[in-house]
Amino acid sequence: MKIETIVEKAEADSIRKAGEILKRGGLVAFPTETVYGLGANGLDSEAAAKIYAAKGRPSDNPLIIHITNRKALDTIVTRVSDKAEKLMEAFWPGPLTLIFPKSEIVPYGTTGGLETVAVRMPSHPIALAVVEAGGGYIAAPSANTSGKPSPTRAEHVWEDFCGRIEMILDGGPVDIGLESTIVDVTTDTPVILRPGYISREMLEEVVGPVEIDRALLLDDSKVPPKAPGMKYKHYAPNADLKIVEGPEEDVIKEINRLVEEGSQNGEKVGVIATEETKELYKGEFVRSIGSRQDELSISRHLFGLLREFNELGVDRIYSEAFDTPKMGQAIMNRLMKAAGHQVIWLKEKNDETV
Ligand code: TXA
Ligand code: MG
Repeated sequence: MKIETIVEKAEADSIRKAGEILKRGGLVAFPTETVYGLGANGLDSEAAAKIYAAKGRPSDNPLIIHITNRKALDTIVTRVSDKAEKLMEAFWPGPLTLIFPKSEIVPYGTTGGLETVAVRMPSHPIALAVVEAGGGYIAAPSANTSGKPSPTRAEHVWEDFCGRIEMILDGGPVDIGLESTIVDVTTDTPVILRPGYISREMLEEVVGPVEIDRALLLDDSKVPPKAPGMKYKHYAPNADLKIVEGPEEDVIKEINRLVEEGSQNGEKVGVIATEETKELYKGEFVRSIGSRQDELSISRHLFGLLREFNELGVDRIYSEAFDTPKMGQAIMNRLMKAAGHQVIWLKEKNDETV
């Protein structure tokens, strides 16, 4: 069924309207500091079901419940460990999602049938205001149709959901651009299930040793990831995307060769470069993702760039790798998924292996 989607600038009036829609079981997209979220009342399984239907999301992929204050947590979870308490103290409100044992009030329709629930307190003032106006427990996945890059602008949400949700609140481009770090705090040693802006080092400074879900470190799909959503194909652009890794000079040379080869075959070839390297590439579809001096400029533009290449209708994309100091793991996790793990490795000059 087609419904009318209203897009409004996020301000007091429109946020109040969003709250009313959420309270009667409707869907509203809104900005957070990470990506735009597609919200519904997380304590109402019929409302949550609408999210799955609109996104085309597999029903075993659980949703994150967004709250605005620490007290609200006690309503939806049954146990909070000391380490969880410390992490919340340090990083909430902010881009950190924690996994807890769920209380009875949380429907399985929100948790994909799991006994645990993912909870996040966002820091974006519009997100906080919407969650509050909507009743205080808003389930919100990233506001993209399943498999597409997550939305970092209201326009991206419009592309995916026009005619399918009741409202989009426009709060401008987001700050971080990658989804929150997810940490399972139901076990003695916390485990990172999805890397994000809050890095392992930042977490370890607060609670000591933190593990990383093995599935994140291995390329094969033999180990199922603990966050169900991490197993699905994600973010894939329409074009064939490959990452080219190696010494910078060699990467530039090889990408230029590949662009030339593609053009000779009549293909449109895109390049994901940086502010530092963009002038060194040939071709019509060279785009800068940001500067290596500013990691957030890279994370912020990744998903938008993948969408832009879809619009440009390129056949192939070659990307530099972005193993930056703090967010490198999170950025490369998303880029690798978008590339279906296709990497062209160029040997280091002093690499002795034959
Ligand atoms: O930054 C974010 O987290 C954004 C904004 C909107 O808050 N939301 C977001 O939600 O990225 P979504 O649904 O796109 O990703 C949620 C991830 C999925 O991989 C899901 O499998 C995992 O969280 N997840 C949710 N509940 C879980 C649970 N109980 N146990 C393990 N993983 C869980
Ligand atoms: Mg998502």
